[in-house]
Amino acid sequence: MVKPHKVEITDTTLRDAHQSLWATRMRTEDMIPIAEKLDQVGYHSLEVWGGATFDVCLRFLNEDPWERLRKLKKLITKTPLQMLLRGQSLVGYQHYPDDVVESFVAKSVENGIDIIRIFDALNDLRNLEVPMQVAKKEGAHVQAAVVYTISPVHTLEYYLKTAKELVELGADSICIKDMAGLLSPYVAYDLVKLIKEHLDIPIQLHSHYIGGLAVGAYLKAADAGVDVIDTAAVPLAFGASQPPVETVVRVLQESPHDTRLDIHTLFEVSKYFEDLRKKYGFERGVTRITDMRVFEHQVPGGMISNFVSQLEEQKALHRIHDVLAEIPAVREDLGFPPLVTPTSQFVGAQAVLNVLAGKRYKMVPGEIRAYIQGHYGKPPVAIKEEIIEKILGENKKDIINCRPADLLLPKMDTIRKEIEKLAKSEEDVLSYALFPQVAKKFLEWRQNRGLDTEDATPEPDVIEKQQETDIPPKHAGGKASGQAESKEGKKVNLTEIKELIKMLDETDICELHLESSGVKVAIKKAGAGVTVMPSSSPAVEKTIEAPVVEKVAEPEEKLENLENLVPVVAPMVGTFYQSPSPEAAPFAEVGQMVTPGQTVCIIEAMKLMNEIEAEISGRIVDILVENGQPVEYGQTLFLIEKV
Ligand code: CO
Repeated sequence: MVKPHKVEITDTTLRDAHQSLWATRMRTEDMIPIAEKLDQVGYHSLEVWGGATFDVCLRFLNEDPWERLRKLKKLITKTPLQMLLRGQSLVGYQHYPDDVVESFVAKSVENGIDIIRIFDALNDLRNLEVPMQVAKKEGAHVQAAVVYTISPVHTLEYYLKTAKELVELGADSICIKDMAGLLSPYVAYDLVKLIKEHLDIPIQLHSHYIGGLAVGAYLKAADAGVDVIDTAAVPLAFGASQPPVETVVRVLQESPHDTRLDIHTLFEVSKYFEDLRKKYGFERGVTRITDMRVFEHQVPGGMISNFVSQLEEQKALHRIHDVLAEIPAVREDLGFPPLVTPTSQFVGAQAVLNVLAGKRYKMVPGEIRAYIQGHYGKPPVAIKEEIIEKILGENKKDIINCRPADLLLPKMDTIRKEIEKLAKSEEDVLSYALFPQVAKKFLEWRQNRGLDTEDATPEPDVIEKQQETDIPPKHAGGKASGQAESKEGKKVNLTEIKELIKMLDETDICELHLESSGVKVAIKKAGAGVTVMPSSSPAVEKTIEAPVVEKVAEPEEKLENLENLVPVVAPMVGTFYQSPSPEAAPFAEVGQMVTPGQTVCIIEAMKLMNEIEAEISGRIVDILVENGQPVEYGQTLFLIEKV
């Protein structure tokens, strides 16, 4: 029997919808003109903050996320504002110490958040304890989420048990978070009904459209007693986003669950977002066959579009099917984590690396090692011993069993001192605590332009120019370090290499191959400049586009100088970092000796910090890339002189 009750709606257009479809690129200035209209609709809440919006504001939009929240709060006076919080990871990708969590949650509420939806990617409730406590203390509505996925352990009973525990932890409502659009209508009915039968608590259902199950799931969930469902305005609905509000309102209109939202006001809102969509040229949410195959490989749509761009960047789009096939295998190896930030990045990036490297777990990002060591919490299923052995080796003794944040020392005081010259508020300090490199760059940029006042929204053009000037057009040469001593006391003449690079740059020749005593070196033009690499690298063979000059004029002398130089090349497209954080010492400097397996730098790619290791023993004679600079696949980062 269906009990009549009004179903309420949360609008996600200003957060999840543009995160799912527009790479989170909606600006505050795009939200301001429609904010008051959205407030009039009569939504249960407006999800406007958290998730990826914080990071993207600072990293790509040169916007202060805190200021966005304050501006929206001023205009939206009736409807509660909602945010998404990744448990102990807040709006970042790693766990933060409790004092950072406490301050961040308190400031979120102070700046205007009314409802905080909190989840942990692994449904490890220890990671929800502190953020839930603080949110409660600060007077916010605490909505605890269970992340929905399909695996041998993720049964209805598992979700009921988790929901009960969340209520014990103080949840004011429960969200079923179906980020991959895997919740089918009849399972939605059973799941909502089961929780409703056992717990007297509001339930909200958050689904993504993807393969189209969500509208049906909402309908069946309404019959089972769901209290709130999540939708987006039609120009930002469908595909990887939420179902459109217009459809859902119409579906429920002639049922006992009528939302009572005015469809005409909804169309006015949608007209605004449709014009915005056209202005920016963003695609509509669509479902492609690869997305529909979510039922087979369970990879969320948003993740597939990330793969496409990541693989495009790595010039390996033709491997997409291999990667999609590798994902379920990696997921099983890692103990069936649900595919949601950050575990979706872990599983996805590891699958990409396994496929590109041609060998499973040859390269493992630091985050995945940390995951296996327990630093993100407990995987749903224990990870197999052989996988632990393969990835951690000797370091398996470092596996932890406690709540990960118990091992993190308080750091707000240190951070406050570190950034005191640039930070104008506690909110600035928090931005820096979460994203040190990115926030520092933003705060410097703001200071340099004197834009630290309330209304300092930069023009998009200004931002783009700024970002362009941040990236030097050529990386060839890097730091000029002149000559370096080789083992035999012979001079290795870097200037000569640089001259060759320059020569290459000024001609139509794309590539030079040099060979001496079995050491082959190729110097080639790449997208952003010139790279030096071992010519046995498969990338070289693939990228030959012009006649190859096998020998350079009078090469003999130069070849002798080159033969001991071994480049360390970027195994992926990403951002080069010399040190683990802005304040830390570099991993490796010119003149330093390195041994095989020693970390020489980090390449940030696919949202992960990938440690790059030296493969030979030798001395670093040059670093060809500046800290924080983007690098291309195959680009030379270091020249190591073999010892
Ligand atoms: Co979502």
